[in-house]
Amino acid sequence: MREILEALEARRDRARAGGGKARAERQHAKGKLTARERIEVLLDPGSFEEWDMFVEHTCHDFDMADQSIPGDGVVTGNGMINGRLVFVFSKDFTVFGGSLSGAHAAKIIKVQQAAMKAGAPVIGLFDAGGARIQEGVKSLAGYADIFLENVMASGVIPQISVIMGPCAGGDVYSPAMTDFIFMVKDTSYMYVTGPDVVKTVTNEEVSHETLGGASVHAAKSGVADGAFENDIEALTEMRRLVDFLPLNNREKPPVQSSFDHPDREEPSLDTLIPDNPNQPYDMRELIEKVADEGDFFEISPAFGGNILCGFGRIEGAPVGFVANQPMTLAGVLDIDSSRKAARFVRFCDCFNIPLVTFVDVPGFMPGTKQEYGGLIKHGAKLLFAYAEATVPKVTVITRKAYGGAYDVMSSKHLRGDVNYAWPKAEIAVMGAKGAVEIIFRKDIGDAEKIAEKTKEYEDNFANPYVAAKLGYIDDIIMPHSTRRRIARSLRTLQNKSVSNPYKKHDNIPL
Ligand code: HXC
Repeated sequence: MREILEALEARRDRARAGGGKARAERQHAKGKLTARERIEVLLDPGSFEEWDMFVEHTCHDFDMADQSIPGDGVVTGNGMINGRLVFVFSKDFTVFGGSLSGAHAAKIIKVQQAAMKAGAPVIGLFDAGGARIQEGVKSLAGYADIFLENVMASGVIPQISVIMGPCAGGDVYSPAMTDFIFMVKDTSYMYVTGPDVVKTVTNEEVSHETLGGASVHAAKSGVADGAFENDIEALTEMRRLVDFLPLNNREKPPVQSSFDHPDREEPSLDTLIPDNPNQPYDMRELIEKVADEGDFFEISPAFGGNILCGFGRIEGAPVGFVANQPMTLAGVLDIDSSRKAARFVRFCDCFNIPLVTFVDVPGFMPGTKQEYGGLIKHGAKLLFAYAEATVPKVTVITRKAYGGAYDVMSSKHLRGDVNYAWPKAEIAVMGAKGAVEIIFRKDIGDAEKIAEKTKEYEDNFANPYVAAKLGYIDDIIMPHSTRRRIARSLRTLQNKSVSNPYKKHDNIPL
């Protein structure tokens, strides 16, 4: 018996060694952890149960019959994050560059299907060279099978992708269909076709980083939802993120004990809004002063900076914060910010996470660049997302809520449950100057009349009382009491039940 056990242990050691010591050292030299080391950092100590460590590929072409490594380039299984179940796959770059064979794909699919049965998130750690070139169409089939599982799981269990090395070709589309993509700065890159193909097809010379590094996807393309300094930071931040999420769409998000009193007042918020309506202020300060212990997990901080999105807690229960950021482009809604927030709102709605929206928006961004880029359709995404969302929705207008953007930002008209305004809020079709220049265009040379009409417009419209008289604003609140009022509203909405009409699925403007 002892020999049998030793033989098993020897086989396990063989699988655990992956592509061997030299290749593991090459990973370390690049500043990367190995696939198994990453799982150790991600999961609670000792909680990982590995599956399929003995799986090998079935390819015989190109001398592959002689080259087989148990596990076949991906480590799969399940484990715990702060005591809660998650399923994991971690691509092993030391084995055939983490490339995807039919057998490798089958291991990932097993994990995806098990996660759906158990109702638990899937976290994929990517570090791979795409399709296993020696396997041809079997590899392509494997990718498609994974994509299908991604689509079936979308909105049922959270799916998170972390890009920690190369992620090219077939490997990019599975992350693209998951809820969040995070990258590691300098060591990861994502693209459909690499620099060599780019050079051949377009004659453009470009590096891996300039084509698809974290600096591109977390800041320019918006493909990634964040970038971290190194593997350890990325993985520990994933643990923090998972703590905000329910395990599946049938659950409410997990409530943690909080030592931050829900009635805590913040007198400094009474002076957050500058006297000059055109002067910016940092909306992040409001979020951090309202959230429990100031804890805010921001999504896409470097992309679409004119809107802030992220998770926090109130009375220990997770909420999704969405807030216009006056510090960037005056908080205007443009293509990037609309897309970013729409996707975040939809994620929260899928997973029963209430939405808290802070509004200070001067409108939609004008200009040919925006119109040619399809601002109408992209802006409509956010409008659509808020309108269809049935989770509790609490909105606070801090300053400007102008034009269509007022409607979009979780207004009463889109089924906002509780809509507050601060006393300095201005809810109108547009700002006073612009409005008077249009209505009194013929008097534009008459400075006195323009000043008088501007004052009249400000008195009549640049305040929250007109909207409050109509019941579009439920109450005008003291800024210092914002946390208390939101906490109370969310408490009253705990058992909110609203459903949309039956449909196969909606047709959100894409
Ligand atoms: C088989 C691969 C491989 C692959 C890498 N390797 N990619 N084996 N299939 N796709 C192997 C290498 O042979 C090498 O083996 C080891 O992995 C490490 O690779 P290196 O090239 O030495 O590493 P590095 O210099 O860091 O470069 C990494 C890389 C490069 C940029 C990812 O390996 C590369 O360009 N690979 C090919 C990428 C690609 O074109 N994939 C196909 C995409 S098409 P040894 O034994 O020396 O350690 C695609 C279509 C699917 O995916 C579409 C589905 C929808």
